[in-house]
Amino acid sequence: MRKLASAAMVAVMSVCLITGVKAGEVEVLHWWTSGGEARSAAELKRLLEAKGHTWKDFAVAGGGGESAMTVLKSRVVSGKPPTAAQIKGPSIQEWGDEGVLATLDEVAKQGGWDELLPAVVANVMKYKGSYVAVPVNVHRVNWMWVNPDIFKKAGAKIPTTWDEFIVAAEKIKAAGYIPVAHGGQAWQDSTTFESVVLGIGGADFYRKAFVDLEPSALNSPTMIQAFDVLRKIKHYTDKDAPGRDWNLATAMVINGKAAMQFMGDWAKGEFTAAGKKPGVDYECVAAPGTAGSFTFNIDSFVMFDVGAGSSQEAQMALAATIMEPEFQEVFNLNKGSIPARLNMPRDKFDSCAHTSMDEFVASAKTATLVPSMAHGMSTFSSVQGAIYDVVTKFYNDDKMPAEKAAETLAAAVKDAR
Ligand code: BGC
Repeated sequence: MRKLASAAMVAVMSVCLITGVKAGEVEVLHWWTSGGEARSAAELKRLLEAKGHTWKDFAVAGGGGESAMTVLKSRVVSGKPPTAAQIKGPSIQEWGDEGVLATLDEVAKQGGWDELLPAVVANVMKYKGSYVAVPVNVHRVNWMWVNPDIFKKAGAKIPTTWDEFIVAAEKIKAAGYIPVAHGGQAWQDSTTFESVVLGIGGADFYRKAFVDLEPSALNSPTMIQAFDVLRKIKHYTDKDAPGRDWNLATAMVINGKAAMQFMGDWAKGEFTAAGKKPGVDYECVAAPGTAGSFTFNIDSFVMFDVGAGSSQEAQMALAATIMEPEFQEVFNLNKGSIPARLNMPRDKFDSCAHTSMDEFVASAKTATLVPSMAHGMSTFSSVQGAIYDVVTKFYNDDKMPAEKAAETLAAAVKDAR
C-alpha cells in the first residue's frame, strides 16, 4: 500500500516537474451522482489528476442541482466557497454581481476560447465581457426516451404530436405497461412542462413566456392548453412517481417497465452506462411537437476567487482541461450531451448525439434554439423558482383548473422579477 502511495507521489511530482506547475487542490462542487453522471465526472477528475493536481470531490445529490445550489450558498456565506462549482446560465451573472468569482480570461486567451465556442455558449460564460465560467457540454432537454419493445407489443406508434401521445399512451396502458416514467419532483415536473409548452406553443411562444416573461403569454389560452396536457401526462404515470429520482425513472424505460420518459439527454448517460444502444434498445426522439426545436442546457464550472497560489494554478488547469478536445469528447460520450467546443470529431458519438449536433446548428438558424427554463438557462433563479412552484402545485392538485394555473403563473412571475 505504502509502495503504491509513494509511486503515485513520484508520478505526480514528475508531472509537475515536466509542466512546471505547482500541484494544487481543487474542491469541485457538482451534483453528478447518478451512474452516467458519476462516470462523466470521473473523467474530469482523471484528466485533472494527470496534470498533477488533486480533485476534492464535493458532490451534492439531487437532480437539477437545487440542493447543490443551496449548499453552495451556505458555504459562500460562511466564507468557505469551494474552489470550483457547477453553476450555469443567468445564475453566473448573479454570482458575478457578488464579486466572488475568478476571471478565466488568461486561460481563455491562451486556449482561443472565443474562436472555439459558439456565441450562444460564450455569452453565457462571460460576466461584463470577461470569462468567468467554462462550458463542459450542451444538453438538449426536449427529448422523449422510448422503449421500442413496449410500443411494438402495445401496437402503438411513437407520437409526434400531443394528440398522438394520448392515443399511444392509451394503447400502452391497455397492454399493461406504464406509459410515462416520471419522478414527481419540482424540477422534473417543470422539465416535462417546458417541453409541452414548446410543443404546443412553438419556439416564439416559448420565448415570450419563459425568456421575455410576457404576462400575455404566461396567462394565455396556449398556456392553459399546456397545463391541460401536463395533467393528461400525469394520468399516464404510476402511483409511485412522487419523489422518485430521475435516473430511477430512466431505469423503468431501460428495464421495460415504462414506455417513455420526458427528460434531457443526461438520461442517455444512463442508457449508455447500462450498455444500451440507440436505435436498437431504445429510441431518442423529440418530445411531441418539438422536432426542429432545441431547448439548450449548458453545464459549466465557475472558479471562486482564491487569490494567487497553488489552488489558483489547479483551478486554471481545471478550466484549461475542460476546454481540451480529449475532455470534451470523453466526458460527453458518457454524459449524453454534445461538446460545447466547435468542430469536434463526430465519429465516436452515437445517432442521438448526431441528431443533437445537427439540430443545435439548424435551430440556431431558424430561431428555434431556446434556453431551458427548467434548467436555469432562461431566467434568474428567483423567477425559475416561482415557475417551479406554480407548475408543481398544479401537478399535485388535480382540482386546480388550468385557467387558474395560468393566471397564478403570470402573477407569480411578476412578483418574482
Ligand atoms: C444538469 C445535468 C444533470 C441533470 C440531472 C441538469 O440540470 O444540467 O448535468 O445531469 O440536471 O441532475
